[in-house]
Parts: sequence; structure tokens; C-alpha cells
Amino acid sequence: MRITQGAPGARILAFGHYQPANVVTNDDLAKTMDTNDEWIQSRVGIKERRVAGPEESEIDLAVQAGGKALAASGLAASDIDLVIVASCTLEAQIPNAAGRVAHRLGIQAPGAYDVNAACAGFCYALSTASDAVRAGSAKNVLVVGTEKLSQWVDWTDRSTAVIFADGAGAAVVAPSETPGIGPVAWGSAGDKAEAIQVKDRDSFLFQEGQTVFRWATTALHPIAKLACDRAGVDPTELAAFVPHQANLRIVEAIARKLGADNAVIARDIVLAGNTSAASIPMALSRMIEHGEVPSGGLALLLGFGAGLTYASQVIELP
Ligand code: UT7
Repeated sequence: MRITQGAPGARILAFGHYQPANVVTNDDLAKTMDTNDEWIQSRVGIKERRVAGPEESEIDLAVQAGGKALAASGLAASDIDLVIVASCTLEAQIPNAAGRVAHRLGIQAPGAYDVNAACAGFCYALSTASDAVRAGSAKNVLVVGTEKLSQWVDWTDRSTAVIFADGAGAAVVAPSETPGIGPVAWGSAGDKAEAIQVKDRDSFLFQEGQTVFRWATTALHPIAKLACDRAGVDPTELAAFVPHQANLRIVEAIARKLGADNAVIARDIVLAGNTSAASIPMALSRMIEHGEVPSGGLALLLGFGAGLTYASQVIELP
């Protein structure tokens, strides 16, 4: 038996993102539930979020973001031979989302699978994409994080409705002579699985906010540091730190403990809310679009969420 060998490294050629048009402000939410702009901004950091209507599915969001990443990469649909969709809010489990997204983008007969690692999903998917390119099982990979959390949230429950939102972000991963996606540091804490869950098909998303908050602000900076160590990068060398946009207080606490003193910190949650697997690629895509981070600089990604799952890696910015 023979085995394949791929490229020495993998790198991200481009990002793309998409948000639904409908903006929901904190004041909008305060009209229908007992909350207010001051509480949401000071406790979570969100000013506004986007919510898709019934006419737009998580697949539609993924197609938009994936199409933009593909166009920005300079590759053609025919160059992509693997599509991975990270999501925990798919309306239908069968068939998978990746095949449908690929078909809508005109990508012919790619390998296509979904990843559910909740808010860590994009970092998990990126890691498997990089491994596939380096092992030779794929050449160019489209990785999409897409979420329509609005369809899993109880819009009368202020503990979740003010936090979660909809959106999609995508990246195109290609072979490279030099490493552009560092080794992943990943894991899970299944003992805390009940802390974020949708119990059954008739239930909405439930979150033990404080349990997750404590875990996120104490257990994750060592994972971020481990990802830096594995990539041989000191946190002070990072040009950007892009953690999952769960809560601005969590983002800032982890950034402080990490010591990424020269990095631009992603604060996309302010205008996007918490979009789970979409939050990291969406934030990166927007930071690049606004010229906030340098091409060729190093960025540390850190996904974490339901499971509880987590994954972190250093990437070179396209
Ligand atoms: O993305 C997946 C990973 N998820 C996370 O990382 C989320 C982690 N957790 C969090 O971000 C925070 O725990 C939340 C944002 C969910 C909640 O913030 P908190 O600072 O932990 O608030 P709390 O639940 O301790 O509630 C504090 C107070 C309570 O009132 P009393 O009992 O002190 O009078 C709540 O009833 O705030 C009240 N409260 C609200 N008030 C206005 C809770 N939700 C709201 C609200 N508006 N939406």
C-alpha cells in the first residue's frame, strides 16, 4: 500500500464574511424583554447584532461568506477539492451542509463534511483542513463557519437572546512551502457538557453563563499559550489575537493573561454579537478588510464553547 504526501505546509489565502442585513440594537431588545443597553454593553460588550429572517438560512449565509472568500483567494471553484462547514445550528442534520454549500458555489464533487465543535468549530475545521493539505488528501480547502443562532434562541429569555446572533465567515486553505497554519492545541471538558446545551428538538439554547464565564477566563489562556509554544511563537510577536467573540470581558481577560502586548485584539462582538463558529473568521475577515492587521503578520486564534470544546492555533495572515 502507498500513502500520499502533500505540501510541506498549508496557509490561508483569503477570508470572507457575510452578515444578514437586519440590525437588532440593544434598544430594540429592550422593547420586548426586561433588559437595557447599559447592562448588555457593560456585561457582554455588544452594541448591536444581525439576525436573519425566515428567508435566509445558515446555508445561505455560508454560501455568501464562502463565495467571498473564494473570490478573494484568486482560485476558481474547480480548484477546491474539500469543503468543511463548521456549525452547531443547522436546521436540518441530513443531508450535511458542506455538500449543499459546495453545490451552490459550483464546486464539483469535493470531499464535503460538517464539523460540530460549537464555538470552537472553525478552529477545529481549520486544523483538519491544514492536516488534509499536508497529508495530500486535499489540495485546496474551503472552510466555512456559519450559524443561525436566532433559530435556537428563546426570544423571551434575556439570558441568551441578548448575546447570540447570526453570520458566517470563511477561509480558503492552500498548500504552502512554509508553515502558514501552526499546530493546533485542542481539547474538551465533557464534564461540563450540560453548561451549554439544547436538550432536545423542542428546546431552546440554554447556558449556565457564570460556569462558562469562569471556565473561559481561567482555563483557556494556558491553551492559547500552548498553541504559541507549539508554533514557536512568543505571544509578544503576535500581530493579532482573535478569540471567539463570546463576551468582551472574556476576550479582554484572556488577552491580558496571554500577554499579547503588541497584538490587535479582535472586538468584533461589539457589532456582531456572539456568532459561535462564525465569530473568528468573521472577525478576521473584517479586520483584514479594514486594514487593522498586517498581511504576513501572525495571528492567534482561540475557539471555545459548548461541549465544552476548545482549539487554538497560530496562523500567518493573508
Ligand atoms: O459562546 C459560547 C461560550 N459562552 C460564553 O463564553 C458565555 C460566558 N458567560 C457570559 O458571557 C456571562 O455569564 C453572561 C453574559 C451570559 C451573563 O453575564 P453575567 O455577568 O454572568 O450575569 P449574571 O448571569 O450573573 O446576572 C447578573 C444579573 C442578575 O441579576 P441579579 O440576580 O444580580 O439581580 C441577572 O438576573 O444581571 C441580570 N441579568 C440581566 N439584566 C439585564 C441577566 N441577564 C440580563 C439581561 N439584562 N439581559
